[in-house]
Amino acid sequence: MSHSDSYTPSKERYTNSVGYQNCGKSGLKLPRISLGLWHNFGDVDDADEALKMIQFAFDNGITHFDLANNYGTPFGSAEKNFGKILKKHFSDYRDEMIISTKAGHEMWPGPYGDGGSRKYLMSSIDQSLNRMKLDYVDIFYSHRYDPETPIAETMGALSDIVKQGKALYVGISKYPEDKAREAYQILKENGTPCLIYQGRYSIFTREIEQEVLPLAEENGVGFIGFSPLAQGMLSDKYLNGIPENSRAAHSYGFLQKSQLTADKIEKISKLNDIAAQRGQTLAQMALAWCFHKTQIDSVIVGTSSVKQLQDNIDSLKNITFTEDELWRIGELG
Ligand SMILES: NC(=O)c1ccc[n+]([C@@H]2O[C@H](COP(=O)([O-])OP(=O)(O)OC[C@H]3O[C@@H](n4cnc5c(N)ncnc54)[C@H](OP(=O)(O)O)[C@@H]3O)[C@@H](O)[C@H]2O)c1
Repeated sequence: MSHSDSYTPSKERYTNSVGYQNCGKSGLKLPRISLGLWHNFGDVDDADEALKMIQFAFDNGITHFDLANNYGTPFGSAEKNFGKILKKHFSDYRDEMIISTKAGHEMWPGPYGDGGSRKYLMSSIDQSLNRMKLDYVDIFYSHRYDPETPIAETMGALSDIVKQGKALYVGISKYPEDKAREAYQILKENGTPCLIYQGRYSIFTREIEQEVLPLAEENGVGFIGFSPLAQGMLSDKYLNGIPENSRAAHSYGFLQKSQLTADKIEKISKLNDIAAQRGQTLAQMALAWCFHKTQIDSVIVGTSSVKQLQDNIDSLKNITFTEDELWRIGELG
C-alpha cells in the first residue's frame, strides 16, 4: 500500500497550523492561507504531486480549497480530480473542510455556459457538485459581474442555491465597487447575506484597497485575496530567465511571458533584496505583506509542489513590517 492509499491526517493539524480568522462578521473561520486549484490540478498536471499538496495542506491546517467550474486544463478537470481525491482520502473529513466553487466565466459552448444568468448558475452548480461528488459546497461565488444580466437575477440564483442546500454561503468575485454595493444589498434582502468578496491582491495589484475593501468591511463581508504572488512573478524564479516547468513557460498557463518586462524584473529583483534583508524568500514576503491590511481574512495561493507550499506556510513566521519596509515595497508595486 502506498503512502497515499493509507493517508491519515496529522494529529497536529490544528495546534501547529496556519491559524484562523473569522470571515468578515460571519462565524465562519478561514485559514490565513487557502489553497487554490486554478492551475496545477488539471488533467495536464502531475496527479501525484496534486494529491500530495492537498494532503500536505490539510496536515498543516489549511482547511479551505478554492475551485471554480472551469479550473484545470481542460475546464472542469480540477473539480473532477479534486473529487477523486476527496472520495478516496477525505471522506471522513468533509466536515473539516471549506470547499468553494464558482460560475461566471466561459465554461461550455452556447449562450448558457457563461455570464451571470440564472440558467447558467443553476446548471453549473449541479455540474460542479457532480464532478466533485459532493452534496454541497461551502461557498458558491458569482465569478464576475455580468453587465448583460440584471444583478437581481444573478443574486437571486445565488440565494436560491443556498435555499436548495447546494451551498452554505455565497460570495462575489471581481465585482466593481458600485455593483458589489448593490449585490450586498440584494443578498441581504434575500436573507442570504454575502459571506465574502474574492479579489486580486498582491504587491503589484492593490486597486481593491481604495473602495472594494472598505465597502466589504462596512457590510461585514469578508475579503479573500487571490494571486498574492502575481502568478509566481513575486518569487525569485524569473530573475534569471523563464525556467522550464514554470507557469510562464506553459502554453496553457495564464501568466504570459510578455508580462515579464525588464522593468518588472528590476522591481522583482529589488523586492527580492528587501525580502533577503528580512530573512525571507520573496514569495514569503509577498504573502506576509498581504496581511498588513487587517481586513484581509485569507489569501489563496496556488502551488505546483509541496516544497512551494511549505515555503508559503513559513511566510506566517514573520508578518510584521516596519513603516520603512512598507514604504519601500510600496514604491516598487
Ligand atoms: N476569482 C478569480 O477570478 C480568481 C482568479 C485567479 C485566481 N483565483 C484563485 O486564486 C488561486 C491562486 O491564484 P494563483 O495560482 O494565480 O496564485 P499565486 O499564488 O499568485 O501564483 C501561484 C504560482 O506561483 C508560483 N509559486 C507559488 N509558491 C511559490 C514559491 N514558494 N516559490 C516560487 N514560486 C511559487 C507557482 O508557479 P509555478 O507553477 O511556475 O511553479 C504557482 O503556480 C487560484 O488557484 C484560484 O483559486 C481566483
